[in-house]
Amino acid sequence: MNLVLEKINKIKEQLNEWGYAYYVLDNPVVDDAEYDKLLKELIELENQNPELITSDSPSQRVGGIVLDKFEKYKHRTQMLSLANAFNEKDLRDFDKQIFKETEHKNYSFYVEPKIDGLSISLIYERGKLIKGVTRGDGIFGEDVTSNVRTIKSIPLTISDKDDYVEIRGEVFLSKPEFEKINLKRQLDEEPLFANPRNAAAGTLRQLDSNVAAARNLDAFLYYFMDREKISTHSDSLKYLEDLKFKVNNLGKLCTDIEQVIEHIEFISSQRSNLDYEIDGVVIKINEFDLYEKVGYTAKSPKWAIAYKFPAEIKQTKLLNIFPTVGRTGRITYNAALEPVQLAGTTVQAATLHNSDFIKQKDIRIGGVVKVKKAGDIIPEIVEPIVDELYNNLKVWEEEKFCPECNTELERSVGEVDQYCINFSCPRKIIRSLEHFVSRDAMNIEGLSIKIIEKLYENNLVKNILDIYNLKNHKQELINLDKMGVKSVDNMLEAIEKSKQNSVEKLFFGLGIRHVGKKTAQLLMTNFKSIQKLSDIEFEKLEAIHDIGPTVAQSVVDWFNVKENILLLENLKNCGLTMDYLGNIGSKFNEKVTDKSFVITGTLSKPRNYFKNILEEYGAKVIDSVSKKTDFVLAGVEAGSKLEKANKLGINVIDESQFIEMIGE
Ligand code: IVH
Repeated sequence: MNLVLEKINKIKEQLNEWGYAYYVLDNPVVDDAEYDKLLKELIELENQNPELITSDSPSQRVGGIVLDKFEKYKHRTQMLSLANAFNEKDLRDFDKQIFKETEHKNYSFYVEPKIDGLSISLIYERGKLIKGVTRGDGIFGEDVTSNVRTIKSIPLTISDKDDYVEIRGEVFLSKPEFEKINLKRQLDEEPLFANPRNAAAGTLRQLDSNVAAARNLDAFLYYFMDREKISTHSDSLKYLEDLKFKVNNLGKLCTDIEQVIEHIEFISSQRSNLDYEIDGVVIKINEFDLYEKVGYTAKSPKWAIAYKFPAEIKQTKLLNIFPTVGRTGRITYNAALEPVQLAGTTVQAATLHNSDFIKQKDIRIGGVVKVKKAGDIIPEIVEPIVDELYNNLKVWEEEKFCPECNTELERSVGEVDQYCINFSCPRKIIRSLEHFVSRDAMNIEGLSIKIIEKLYENNLVKNILDIYNLKNHKQELINLDKMGVKSVDNMLEAIEKSKQNSVEKLFFGLGIRHVGKKTAQLLMTNFKSIQKLSDIEFEKLEAIHDIGPTVAQSVVDWFNVKENILLLENLKNCGLTMDYLGNIGSKFNEKVTDKSFVITGTLSKPRNYFKNILEEYGAKVIDSVSKKTDFVLAGVEAGSKLEKANKLGINVIDESQFIEMIGE
């Protein structure tokens, strides 16, 4: 063999061994200087003989690749998330369910920390790491291979030489690494990362892999499911260890739910000593052959659950209470807090809900309060610390006037909330426009709250109808600061496209008080059009199952306002869908629900017929073929779309295959 190649291979082997001891076993066998010296030697040899550089060389971990964007990657099997358990009862219910589903078969649990990072999927072909992909929406992830290669605890080659090996786990930043990064950012006067998870996410999604290489990401691997090779989770972890992956050492095999609870307590007790963040404990059935039997929901396996640690509670000073106005005019009170570190982020605001909440808890400005994060996201005030100092503070009094338009606030009988009832309250209008364009409503991309505010201030949009007239003000839009031609074009296109949305989305978007997404759907299924609903009587509405008097009254009241009727007429004239076209999302079919379809060519019935069926099953029907398309339903004389589908390797089905698929 070529002498240089031999030397290079020897160095690589040595570096891999040292790296493994250092990064995976956390047990260095040489000092950093010696490692660096050998790495330098390797890089020099490779520079002199570039043809000998291989993608699995330790020299390739140093970054160097800068991308324009990450490619999307379709996961071979969906990356699922986990259902949550918050207490012992949830855990025992989980056990009972498994007991039932497995028909009392013997099963055991594997209990391991829930690493607070980002899921990653690693793909090895014939022993070589070829891809690292983020979870994304579970179906499509982002190809972040160039960054994954910089993670030194992830082997670039493994001894399992199968054609395809997929391993999943969690990428994270250790607490000390996170501190180091933030310290540097502070010195560089850059904004700080809120917590290690955010920092890890920001790093893994850097297009410049040099950044990732400099930041020392790390990874625990916990998922390897190849039933031909291995039959239990605990064995799979041993196998991963043999393959030299980093596997968490706090996991334990438990024979029953009592042991599970005990081990959860143990892991919780270790939490603050660990040098990485964990946000809970994951409990999995150990036996792979029971997975199918126990089954899955659409989003998560039923054979595993995540126990989430109870929310951390801290004390801080309440600096102020200020009201905000929502789209319905409802007043929400918010707290300004002295900044406090809570569950990984700095908290300086919390919700106080309505004035009853504040009065009931007797929360006073200037007092010390306990705060926690509900579901670890939105901070909330638990209660005040009542002491002598507190008792001397002024009792809080609710606002009497709208903070935005100064109209006197009102409260309906029996309601806890106060409302601003001024139709032209600017904040109400802005918020209702925000609701109208939101995802579950008309889903108009590009119209963020900031843009809406700007359009409102510039008298370009004062009501829903104005959105559909924006196309006549293109130049004015372009002139608004920060709005480029391209973003204006995209926005106008999104507005036009929204006209074809289902009437349920439109009806929900109107923002009628008490009419949520489900109620909008229910009303449209029953009345088939907004028009038919407009002169319905209260009694008829209330007679519908699931529609109570409050909702019925609110709908009737809305249609009694003549401006609203005028708005509907104008929207109809603009070409918006005002009639009910089908029962969107009412049926379920594993092969169809949530999938995206493109319909092309001539079929036996109009395209809308097939579109309606697909939408009934909760599938998305889109106009153009892309990598994201799941199926193309092609009729006779299908042209460029079929061509593109074939090129991208997308499943193409004909009408008979479609009927078979639907099973109708
Ligand atoms: S198992 C199909 N084990 O938690 C089950 N997940 O909400 C696959 N996570 O998306 C997940 N530590 O990113 C599993 N020891 C662990 C985990 C873990 C962290 C994350 C993972 C997943 C999320 C579930």
